[in-house]
Amino acid sequence: MDLLLIGPPGVGKGTQAARLRQTLDIPHLSTGDLLRRHVSEGTRLGAAAAAHMRRGDLVPDELVTEMALGQILGPPCAAGVVLDGFPRTPAQAEALDVALAAHGRRLTAVLHLNAPDRTLLRRLTGRRTCGGCGDSYHLDTRKPRTPGRCDSCGHRLVQRADDTAETARTRLAVHTRQTQPLLARYRLAGVLHEVDGCGDVGDITRRLLAALAPHTVHSSAC
Ligand code: AP5
Repeated sequence: MDLLLIGPPGVGKGTQAARLRQTLDIPHLSTGDLLRRHVSEGTRLGAAAAAHMRRGDLVPDELVTEMALGQILGPPCAAGVVLDGFPRTPAQAEALDVALAAHGRRLTAVLHLNAPDRTLLRRLTGRRTCGGCGDSYHLDTRKPRTPGRCDSCGHRLVQRADDTAETARTRLAVHTRQTQPLLARYRLAGVLHEVDGCGDVGDITRRLLAALAPHTVHSSAC
């Protein structure tokens, strides 16, 4: 089953993708996490992506598409994947559809999470991320047991460079301009599900699983 979680920055794609991965036993692929790893390791791709990410702009299609498709078509994701952050432009969506079709696959469902901008800005500016294992926390809604330290590995928590209020606003505008148009494509394809991204994390997971129920019943019956 190939799933896409789509929605604005801070809506909870990463949080929910990790929970779907556990429940459905499908790997989670975050292009944001992959790109940040390239940046921190100083690879050529990371060097090319860093300035775009710092500004809150999208990384050019050709760089992201090659990186993402390499993972999506690789052995760990051969039986399906929860996509988080890819595709984000019409060109990326087209490349994904073509690549999946060439392997007899297609997006089973596209789950669109949404929430008001004021909620998104609060989630983004309050997020703190573990510099060691990448776990995500929030100053108000997901506090670590020891302030400033990761519960899982004890590393220091840091604010992502693109989570300042100014860059977060840029990212929201970029999402509206470049990614939101993809919703029409997936609505037309009959795979789009609208899911409310407000409220308790567990409640949102239940809404996502409810939206997926017809697909999971169908695939186990085959
Ligand atoms: P990426 O890392 O994908 O960032 P994003 O899409 O902006 O999404 P976020 O990771 O900020 O938010 P999220 O929706 O995952 O929310 P989360 O679960 O963390 O991309 C970063 C950059 O990389 C892009 O700007 C771009 O430059 C580049 N890039 C990546 N993919 C690309 C592509 N395909 N093409 C081109 N460029 C690309 O939650 C946020 C916070 O809220 C956390 O603190 C969490 O604990 C909290 N929270 C979550 N759910 C709830 C809840 N229900 N209630 C209260 N708090 C909650």
